[in-house]
Amino acid sequence: MSSRTPFQPGRQQYRRDFLKFLAGSPLLTSFSAFTQEIEETLGERLTNPDQVINVFEMEAVAREKVAPAHFGYLISGVDSDTTLRANREGYTRFQILPRRLVDVSGPTDMSVNVLGAEARSPIFLSPVGSTGGFHSDADVGVARAAAAKNHHMILSTQASSPIEEVIEARDAPIWFQLYSTNRWEYTEALLRRAEAAGCTAVCLTVDLPGGRNTETSAVLAREDDRFCEECHYGEAKPIFDGLDMQGVGLVDSSLTWEVIGRMKEVTDMKVIIKGIEVGADAALAVQYGADGIILSNHGARATDTGRGTIECLPEVISAVNGRIPVIVDGGIRRGTDVYKALALGASAVGIGRPYCWGLGAFGQAGVERVLDLLYRELAITMRGSGTPSIAHITPDYVQDAGYRVPRGTLGRELI
Ligand SMILES: Cc1cc2nc3c(=O)[nH]c(=O)nc-3n(C[C@H](O)[C@H](O)[C@H](O)COP(=O)(O)O)c2cc1C
Repeated sequence: MSSRTPFQPGRQQYRRDFLKFLAGSPLLTSFSAFTQEIEETLGERLTNPDQVINVFEMEAVAREKVAPAHFGYLISGVDSDTTLRANREGYTRFQILPRRLVDVSGPTDMSVNVLGAEARSPIFLSPVGSTGGFHSDADVGVARAAAAKNHHMILSTQASSPIEEVIEARDAPIWFQLYSTNRWEYTEALLRRAEAAGCTAVCLTVDLPGGRNTETSAVLAREDDRFCEECHYGEAKPIFDGLDMQGVGLVDSSLTWEVIGRMKEVTDMKVIIKGIEVGADAALAVQYGADGIILSNHGARATDTGRGTIECLPEVISAVNGRIPVIVDGGIRRGTDVYKALALGASAVGIGRPYCWGLGAFGQAGVERVLDLLYRELAITMRGSGTPSIAHITPDYVQDAGYRVPRGTLGRELI
């Protein structure tokens, strides 16, 4: 059993320090009065998930409840967080072109089937490691929420809960996200365990071959009164149970495109490559036999490219040319964001931080609320644009304005 000290919620000092940090941070260029109010009081006032009206408020509530170091881990980008801003601001470049006098009186059909994964919404849960640091419900709570709302889920190699328990809680197939270790026999063991547990696809994450610089995480870790190493030294996640992790690293920097074929020799699961950002790589993924692509920059936690994932989407869609599905994640916070990604050609989208804010704020119930909020926003956008089903959403419904709106002016947004 871990001897870690439980975090005491509602620590005023932390909040003051965090506000000070934010105010002086390039993360925020300006505070609106509304944003200031959210920062100072919202987390205390919203005590029931149903009172939360958007994912930004959920973030504010989570900030009150999650330990500073863990919250820093959750919100951090890399370097100066340029790409973190780009992931959000990129969405402002694309504008929706709504069509009028279309009969949208029937039920709005948001259901999708991507590589056999059926869900009532195109909003997938991207893999996030160490969710147990946000709430004790952890991945099992996320899976129960995904089951309650019928959203598709991808489980991280770094998950806090055992994969078998997560699949039982989801009560449907999920996908497994793989970090290939520096020992191929371990990678094979992970693939076999995931497949035996009932996963139908493996998403190999390829965007972290050489470390990263998560500065915001480091800054917030200073606000915590515990040392990370006290709890996390030598920690191995449940997927590695039974494997000797001595000297085993989670990164294999030598991987090349042949890895797709090697994985297919070991598993019958679909092989999806997560972390593609340019069209040339998307074409290579198809060429080497990938079954799908997740266009992702790891939630702006890998290379600080300065390019938002939505800005990468048109060239990736063009390179793939309909041969395999493309899922995009990074910065999706509104139903309109989902809509724009679908209109540009994505088969589905992923969210990472938003559902973790829900988890940190209220456990499973908070994740359910986040899924409900985004589902509702997408339904409103679809009806408002004259597109009653996902199949109706085409490139005709979106245009590239060619400029981004800076993030400091985005109203209710915090981060
Ligand atoms: C705290 C945190 C942990 C993450 N852990 C993983 C992981 O273990 N494996 C992975 O492939 N991606 C991981 N990601 C990236 C997500 O899968 C996803 O690409 C990203 O969160 C999407 O961006 P968003 O958070 O802006 O929605 C993580 C992201 C966050 C925020």
